[in-house]
Amino acid sequence: MGSKNATLPLLAACLLTDEPCLLSNIPLIDDIFTMVELLRRLGVDVTIDAGARTVRVCAAGLRRSDPDPDLVRKERGSFLVMGPLLARFHRASSPHPGGCAIGARPVDVTVHGFRAMGARVQTEEGWYDAWAPQGLHGASVYLDYPSVTGTENLMLAASLAQGRTVIKHASCEPEVVALAQFLTAMGARIRGAGSSFIEIEGVPRLHGAEGRVIPDRIEAGTFAAAAVATEGELVLRDVNCDHLEPVLYKLQQIGACTECRGSVLRVSGRRPFQAVEVQAIHFPGFPTDLQAVFAALLTQAEGLSIIQERVYENRLLYVDELRKMGAQIIVRGQRADIYGPTPLHGAAVRALDLRAGASLIVGGLVAEGETVISDVHHIQRGYEDVVGRLASLGAEIRLVERPAGAVAAAGGSSGPL
Ligand code: EPU
Repeated sequence: MGSKNATLPLLAACLLTDEPCLLSNIPLIDDIFTMVELLRRLGVDVTIDAGARTVRVCAAGLRRSDPDPDLVRKERGSFLVMGPLLARFHRASSPHPGGCAIGARPVDVTVHGFRAMGARVQTEEGWYDAWAPQGLHGASVYLDYPSVTGTENLMLAASLAQGRTVIKHASCEPEVVALAQFLTAMGARIRGAGSSFIEIEGVPRLHGAEGRVIPDRIEAGTFAAAAVATEGELVLRDVNCDHLEPVLYKLQQIGACTECRGSVLRVSGRRPFQAVEVQAIHFPGFPTDLQAVFAALLTQAEGLSIIQERVYENRLLYVDELRKMGAQIIVRGQRADIYGPTPLHGAAVRALDLRAGASLIVGGLVAEGETVISDVHHIQRGYEDVVGRLASLGAEIRLVERPAGAVAAAGGSSGPL
């Protein structure tokens, strides 16, 4: 499926022109629906064709510069509308964005960049008011941290700013490159995306464009880990193996077989699995969004595996849930020591956030007996029909309704995917 984290900035980019834009290969997930609703409430015309997986966005009716606070608080990507709104209206205001509870998640990089480009930004009580009476101008902006959202927001704003902007220590994630490609198709002048030094020459106006959302590398990595953990074999289509390089490298170290042919990835696994060390860090390092999923897989590896989370300060909370299934994991600060192989057993567990929930699904597929995962709305924010697709691959998994809300049950001993 198309990448969630690549679709969100493309939707924000559509605000930069009055002409219609068309995005294809969009994932039909809650985070995208939230962003679509947010754009609509700004006056933007958005039409989703679910069958064709396209969304048509026309911002000719854009009339507000203050996104709906309730929607902004639902997800981090919502803050990406700030750059385009500031560029077009010379003012924008928003509360602090929401998203998974995995750490502080500040937006100081974005604020610093907007200020360097001539905006005044007031930040009070979790609210951001930005205005640039003279419009935005190009600037040399050094990012204290190569924030993904920060880099994207500044690229969006700089595309319509007057003059040249240089973003130093920029994020190199594939989603940033995908945004640069789409903005370029809209008429923006951008060089260097994919490196830590991005140059943007502002243009007076952008035009409509069509773009295909890049494949979701996190989703592909999740399915690949599930296949290996269950000693199955899976063929994944529409995959960008370059984006998955750090993940495939780890899978190979674990002892899995991976084979890339064009956009097709074949993955299989047979025990025994080797323990490995994983450092979750920004691209091209191993993605933080997959460390929880890999932790579930590594409970089945021989010896001590170590996961070091280097992006977020609070992204190991899922460990307590995996422990309820019998995992032997010790957390020290940002490091999780995983002792394996450990037979997992079914348990009642909670999806604390999106990727934590995906980790529990992988654990549940490996475990003996039934695992019941609550709060699956977190998982549904980012994985389209994960239950249906895993079931079609042979997993014993189903969505069940309980009084307390939707619950997914991953039956253990499902067998290989
Ligand atoms: N940070 C700062 N200052 C900032 C911004 C970020 O210090 O101004 C720090 C954060 O505290 C955090 C780290 O930088 O520790 C990473 O934040 P970043 O801004 O790079 O990430 P993000 O844009 O908030 C995106 C994805 C995340 C993914 C990260 C890292 C979207 C909507 N979200 O978040 O995806 O984990 O990049 O790759 O693109 C997910 O999909 O589950 C998810 C959390």
